[in-house]
Amino acid sequence: MSQPAPSILPDRIVYARGAAHVAAPAAGSSDRTEETLDQLAEPLAIGAVELRNRVVLAPMAGVTDAAFRRQAWRFGAGHLVGEMLGARPDLWHTKKSRLRRERVEGAPLAIQLAGSEPDVLAQAARQHWADGADMIDINFGCPAKKVCRKAAGSALLAEPDRVVSLAAACVDAVPVPVTVKMRTGPRPDWRNGVEIAKALEQVGVAALTVHGRTRACKFQGEVDVETIAQVKAAVSIPVIANGDVTDRAGALAMLEETGADAVMVGRAALGAPWLLGEIVHARAPSEAAQRQSLLELVADVQRLYGETAGLRIARKHIQWGLQRFGFAADAVRPLLKTDDAASQLELLSGLLELH
Ligand SMILES: Cc1cc2nc3c(=O)[nH]c(=O)nc-3n(C[C@H](O)[C@H](O)[C@H](O)COP(=O)(O)O)c2cc1C
Repeated sequence: MSQPAPSILPDRIVYARGAAHVAAPAAGSSDRTEETLDQLAEPLAIGAVELRNRVVLAPMAGVTDAAFRRQAWRFGAGHLVGEMLGARPDLWHTKKSRLRRERVEGAPLAIQLAGSEPDVLAQAARQHWADGADMIDINFGCPAKKVCRKAAGSALLAEPDRVVSLAAACVDAVPVPVTVKMRTGPRPDWRNGVEIAKALEQVGVAALTVHGRTRACKFQGEVDVETIAQVKAAVSIPVIANGDVTDRAGALAMLEETGADAVMVGRAALGAPWLLGEIVHARAPSEAAQRQSLLELVADVQRLYGETAGLRIARKHIQWGLQRFGFAADAVRPLLKTDDAASQLELLSGLLELH
């Protein structure tokens, strides 16, 4: 049975039931804050694609499949980036890749790719565009060993020329916006994010997401808002700031400190896909709606992957979700052990009192 490490949830999340954890609207705050307050709910143009607001769901491999993205969208996320897909053509048609590409109705389809050969990446971008992608995002931000060993993800930040030629090849290959997700540089003593950002803008990249950590930092240490601010000041394309945003106050602070155009939220949404909408609208869904959303997510995961794989994949969502609702491990265990998809749903709806 897959048991995701609960430590993946950011430390600073304090889960409170119902609407208790909604940040109060910043009444009487400074003009600057009032501006950023409105800014979260405003649309944002990335090339010809308009995002409906400025709170973006981070791509998270193994998490942000179509089922998860559908819940995030339903509750008001401004934009969704699907999980990273390898650029190799032999992987495009695997069942998993196909499922990861499934469109959420009404939302622009952003496909994230990783690769290290310009021709291969460009060909993948073209294929995904032909299959309906509205945007292509290139991952230069992922520190995962599996990705970096293949000279992709954030490992490439140490090779700025290659980063730029990979992006340029994609821009030339597709008529839809190409965006890039990156970190601030390879190491704390080598933050070349600004230099890379400027070069990416030059070759026609439509927007940049900057996770305010270096590759070497993985997920540790404070987010470096300073470098994100420098990137924003250095380019005129939209910049999306990412790292440790867990609530509305954090999102507003991130915009204010970096001057970025939007924020991206990752781990804080694990077990809480509604969080992005809550950040945008300063209003949490009722706890009943949150519980219903978890049940729907699990049912959708089972539908998407089929009962056998689906029930295994759903376990991490169940664990994260119930952890946030404050259920004790003992209460959750039978639900994680069952090998029957229908009982998984039944036990979950019983525990959530959704009968
Ligand atoms: C489980 C998991 C999977 C991730 N997968 C990807 C990925 O496929 N592509 C990517 O660019 N970043 C990936 N990331 C990084 C996130 O998109 C994001 O940049 C990072 O978690 C920081 O944002 P946060 O502090 O809001 O979580 C992943 C992160 C996590 C926790």
